[in-house]
Amino acid sequence: MAFLPPWASALVGCISVSLAGAFSFSDLYPPLWNKSPGQFSDYSVENGKYVIDPWVYPERMGMYKILVNKTASYFERFSPDNGQNLLWGLPLQYGWQYTTGRLVDPSQRTDCGYESGDRLRVSVDSWWADMNYFLCALPFLAAVDSGIMGMSSDQVMLLPPPKDQTKFCLNISSCQSSFPKTMSKWNILYKYLQSPSSSFDDLMKYLWDAHISALKDAYKIFEDRLEYYSKPEADFGRDWCVTLDYLAAAHFPTTFFKVTEFQKGLPPRVLVDSDRAPFISNFTNLQNTVLLGLNLLHQVDDSTGKGLNTLKKPIILFLKPYYHSYI
Ligand SMILES: *[C@@H]1O[C@H](CO)[C@@H](O)[C@H](O)[C@H]1NC(C)=O
Ligand SMILES: *[C@@H]1O[C@H](CO)[C@@H](O)[C@H](O)[C@H]1NC(C)=O
Ligand SMILES: *[C@@H]1O[C@H](CO)[C@@H](O)[C@H](O)[C@H]1NC(C)=O
Repeated sequence: MAFLPPWASALVGCISVSLAGAFSFSDLYPPLWNKSPGQFSDYSVENGKYVIDPWVYPERMGMYKILVNKTASYFERFSPDNGQNLLWGLPLQYGWQYTTGRLVDPSQRTDCGYESGDRLRVSVDSWWADMNYFLCALPFLAAVDSGIMGMSSDQVMLLPPPKDQTKFCLNISSCQSSFPKTMSKWNILYKYLQSPSSSFDDLMKYLWDAHISALKDAYKIFEDRLEYYSKPEADFGRDWCVTLDYLAAAHFPTTFFKVTEFQKGLPPRVLVDSDRAPFISNFTNLQNTVLLGLNLLHQVDDSTGKGLNTLKKPIILFLKPYYHSYI
């Protein structure tokens, strides 16, 4: 990889590390997967509508579970067990946020999310939870709108968070009017998914397009939430967003095993002030290297105005053979 700077090879190397292991699916499901709603009828009903509270961990997970289930048939021809469903990346990331303590109230004004408090509650003050809302409610509602959920828009209702309600859209029409570009990108993905000639590579492209668009919408709204965190954690959040741009450009396949492997390199807990990658004593080498790599990637991206373009290319070139060999 002579054409990549060393830190970039380290980063990309980490991404492709230890892909081999053969795991069983169910061992690796996100936390509480089996306890989360798996069909609309598992939710409560009010005035003829299914009521979903995305601020309760398993209820939000259930939205993903239904999404992954309802899109399974379209991914069948890539693998029969739904492992190649590109929407797996979303619940897996959300599960990682839960496991690593990123859905708790970082301001500590409430006991939301804490082991000693309301463990299953998702805090509206969590930057990660708010970013994730845009990667859950929008894809979910767009899927309802596109018809693949077998449900009409007036049959589902999302509950608002306890505060800052106006920052979150709750139904198809309000999401479409507040975030028209992003909603239309998710719709494009679902339309393309339903066409019998859809290719895996194009599906990845449309998925990342929609994903990045949702992330950008949310980033602008919730940037101030990063102030609740230590500097290393806030930096990591920002680095992560920049990195996603690169993963998107490389069409990183967000399939079940790829994302599961990838997440092993991400910080297993919220970072504290004294954390300095690559010297965090209770992180694995992989986690230390990835954290350092993401930070360097962000710095290079910032310092070279056109860094994204000059660096995207080698990273894409390097990633391509890696992910193609695993599809
Ligand atoms: C989808 O959910 C239904 C109902 O829970 C279940 O019977 C079916 O096996 C699921 N399909 C997949 C591919 O997970
Ligand atoms: C959609 O949500 C908005 C608030 O986010 C609300 O004002 C509107 O009445 C809702 N529309 C429907 C059809 O429920
Ligand atoms: C890991 O390191 C952090 C920061 O030094 C510390 O707060 C935490 O207790 C450590 N965790 C374990 C399991 O050793």
